[in-house]
Amino acid sequence: MNIDVFTLFPESFEWFVSQRHVGNALARGSRLQCVNFRDHTPLSGRQVDDTPFGGGAGMVLRVDVVDSALRAHYGIDPVELRVKRRVILLAPGGRVLEESLVDELTAEPALTLLCGRYEGFDQRIADHFASDVVSVGRYVLSGGELAAMIVCDAVLRKLPGALGHEHSAIEESFSAALHGGLEYPHYTRPAEYRGWRVPEVLLSGHHERIAQWRRERSRERSEDEATNADRGSRSGG
Ligand code: ADE
Repeated sequence: MNIDVFTLFPESFEWFVSQRHVGNALARGSRLQCVNFRDHTPLSGRQVDDTPFGGGAGMVLRVDVVDSALRAHYGIDPVELRVKRRVILLAPGGRVLEESLVDELTAEPALTLLCGRYEGFDQRIADHFASDVVSVGRYVLSGGELAAMIVCDAVLRKLPGALGHEHSAIEESFSAALHGGLEYPHYTRPAEYRGWRVPEVLLSGHHERIAQWRRERSRERSEDEATNADRGSRSGG
């Protein structure tokens, strides 16, 4: 997987790339590169944004700046780039990131992520340069960087060898092994703490009964989650 992140704050990814699973993915041939919009701006004084036409608060990332940065990095017109490569603009109003979209993105050989700041992007960037607009949830962050890290994390951890234990991504929430449902609860030592006992079946060593118990808990949790989601949508949330 080859990921390019366009941002005004490349240094904010330093912590992210130092994470073990990200390091594992990078050691196995994936690449994550940050490109600073300011390094490619055609404007003087490293300017990248401007006040909104029609008035209003905040600054808007300029379309000519994003055009220059993409063109400098890929050597082609960004209008053509988005046909060849997923160019994902991160914004609160986009397609909400869910497991199915993560799977879709993990199957791509390369991704470009565009992070905005302040009031956001000139709309022409989404209209002409992006193949997708993706949101990490229906709330507003101060910029696209955290959202981009969420996308990168969700994608990179799916690549073979990113997680130390190969099994851990197979039987987790939303996986095919759990029929897209939620994962069962986990417990570890001590078996009893302040009177709270671990379910006896998990201490039994009886693999079949444990597997059945886990299937049941997974199904229960998924049903509860579906009920909560339904309540949220009915209350307008
Ligand atoms: N930028 C600001 N808020 C965002 C969100 N919720 N998802 C993706 N990008 C964003």
